[in-house]
Amino acid sequence: MGQVFTVDFTGAHILSIEQFQREDIEKLFRTADRMEPYAQRRRVTRVLEGAILGNMFFEASTRTRISFGSAFNLLGGEVRESVGAESSSLVKGESLRDTARVLSGYSDVICMRHPVAGSVAEFASASRVPVINGGDGSNEHPSQALLDLYTIERELQGRQRKIDGLRIAMIGDLKHGRTVHSLSKLLCQYRNIKVMLVSPAELAMPDEYVSALREAGHQVHVTDRLEESIANVDIVYSTRIQEERFQDRQQADLYRGRFRLNQAIYTRHCEPNTVIMHPLPRDSRAEANELDADLDSNPNLAIFRQTDNGLIVRMALFALILDVAHLVDQHARDVFWFNPRIGSH
Ligand code: CP
Repeated sequence: MGQVFTVDFTGAHILSIEQFQREDIEKLFRTADRMEPYAQRRRVTRVLEGAILGNMFFEASTRTRISFGSAFNLLGGEVRESVGAESSSLVKGESLRDTARVLSGYSDVICMRHPVAGSVAEFASASRVPVINGGDGSNEHPSQALLDLYTIERELQGRQRKIDGLRIAMIGDLKHGRTVHSLSKLLCQYRNIKVMLVSPAELAMPDEYVSALREAGHQVHVTDRLEESIANVDIVYSTRIQEERFQDRQQADLYRGRFRLNQAIYTRHCEPNTVIMHPLPRDSRAEANELDADLDSNPNLAIFRQTDNGLIVRMALFALILDVAHLVDQHARDVFWFNPRIGSH
């Protein structure tokens, strides 16, 4: 099963952002554009009727699990799920490779999240069907990076700016945050980017990602100072302290709340149209409060446009991997039911 694709995704695993060249990203994003009427429930397509997604989440998730499942349903397919390692036979000592052999007999494609870096690739090596990495430990979260970049492209459209030439501040736990790891790799496909990496020194972005950004010719600044880092950027990308990755969870308390953004800080330091992003979940507990709720009425807060975009990007991944993207509109009709999003039938 092909691991590296330039434009043809058919039958491929999606394990790492390193598989994506710029042509692949463009193909995915233009396919995602076409999924929007279906994601918004204005049209229905049944192009994956009869297909089954195995949605295997061995670690907590809200967005990734539900949006992968919904994306598959919206294309007409069905979803079977396993949630939590404790409810699977992994707890009885079954190997990932045996699990993969079994589950790939039941599914046409599998999405998997697991707390151990490299585990999804190990699983995929024994799978008979394509496997999508829904997050493996601190390593990667490729579909999140793709939806993040798709969101960045869309947000910049009204600002006369492009991904080439982007200025972005990534903030928070950059050591354990797999979303920023994958996003950094993805940005290496573009030109002339300024990246501010803002974290406590102990939670700094690992050297391999910093080196890759520099080798791509980007300007990279590593700092622990929030306010000056968000002053001249297009995107502020905040992340959560990944407490589940700490050996001792109380150690995470040392860093929680270090980089809070609220409307007053935004108004004082950011350019007027700076886009605020976060892969979510944001930690809204008082001691963390990474993105204050007073930003919720700020039109530049893009966090829920990110989650909506996640649905269409994931639909596009399925449509391309299962080679039905060209058929989606042929098997479509308008919906019958009242659609509260657009207020019409
Ligand atoms: N962004 C993200 O991966 O969210 P979940 O953990 O809720 O899936």
